[in-house]
Amino acid sequence: MKLKGAIIGCGFFAHNHMQAWNEIKNIEIVAVCDLDKKKAISFSKKFKIAHYYTDINKLLDLENLDFVDVVTTMETHLSIGKILSKRKVATSIQKPFAENLQDAKKIVSLYEKTKTPLMVHENFRWQTPLMTLKKLEKQYQLKKPQYSKISFRHANPVGYTNQAYLYDLEEYLILDVGIHLYDLSRFFLGEATSVYTINQNTNKKFKGETAFTSLVRHENGGVSIIDASISSIKTPDRFAQTLVNVEYENGSIDLDYDYNITVHKKGLKKLHKGNPRKLKWISKPWDQIQESIVNTHNHFISCLNMKRVHDTSGADNIKSLSLVFASYQSNKHRKEIQLNEK
Ligand SMILES: NC(=O)c1ccc[n+]([C@@H]2O[C@H](COP(=O)([O-])OP(=O)(O)OC[C@H]3O[C@@H](n4cnc5c(N)ncnc54)[C@H](O)[C@@H]3O)[C@@H](O)[C@H]2O)c1
Repeated sequence: MKLKGAIIGCGFFAHNHMQAWNEIKNIEIVAVCDLDKKKAISFSKKFKIAHYYTDINKLLDLENLDFVDVVTTMETHLSIGKILSKRKVATSIQKPFAENLQDAKKIVSLYEKTKTPLMVHENFRWQTPLMTLKKLEKQYQLKKPQYSKISFRHANPVGYTNQAYLYDLEEYLILDVGIHLYDLSRFFLGEATSVYTINQNTNKKFKGETAFTSLVRHENGGVSIIDASISSIKTPDRFAQTLVNVEYENGSIDLDYDYNITVHKKGLKKLHKGNPRKLKWISKPWDQIQESIVNTHNHFISCLNMKRVHDTSGADNIKSLSLVFASYQSNKHRKEIQLNEK
């Protein structure tokens, strides 16, 4: 059965979302909606989408939708979520899920009340290099993860020049990128219990932090070091690759630059590649991010079809978001923050 969907928000990143929807069988994006009429028109023309709207209620009144894909910035999510949950439309919503934990919890409870599926488009764990790392963990029977180092450091302005709104945020890199990295730490080591974070501003164009280093404790006794920077000069530049090292009781895996993955296990060293698939519309340096959108959409749709809760459901994402806000507290008070006592 073909599912019919709509995109809400026709800005910078929505173009990638639409290209990715075009990769998926049995899906049709039948309408788009943006408050900015010009953007809605040009987006619908570019992708040959039958209808455009500037008002979400009108979109829902006139279209028969199985799902919507919300690609707007975080401050709009509560008001959009109120409308969509009330009308029981299955929703995928971009990160950051909300500006604060209270709003995120409110959105989750609205969707729970009307029993409507809600997934956060948390795409880093759906990047091919990271999915490959997870697969190798199983293949080599690596057990009991006890340490991870998750790093996203670059100096390529392309990482923010398309998103001018980022310059003025009081809280920037942890909310924008840290959220993905904290989610990865939970993906590899399980739930977190506390965080200690130090922020830096290394680029005065930004109001908020442009670098951070976090130490996270996990329920299983493991520890993660998570760091990011937009001022890390390397040749070649590392944007937008997340470099990861996970250590287990019986081995370790390194995901290095250029998707090179090395597995170590008791005297054994094996090399693997984790390159994203080559799709016509993807290009460096965004390739692994662009490709992950297809994988994330696929997860959204397959869970809808199987009536399963999404791995990165709204409720799940609150756990990653808790790390974000605890990190800001930690940096402010210069102390370790327990996740259940903020
Ligand atoms: N996961 C990733 O890898 C990744 C990468 C880049 C951006 N993002 C996220 O995607 C989101 C969108 O980012 P962007 O750069 O495309 O933003 P953008 O500002 O370019 O686009 C957002 C659009 O939403 C529209 N909009 C806002 N409220 C609306 C409403 N109520 N109804 C209809 N339209 C509305 C705006 O008019 C705007 O055109 C952000 O949350 C950003 O963090 C994620």
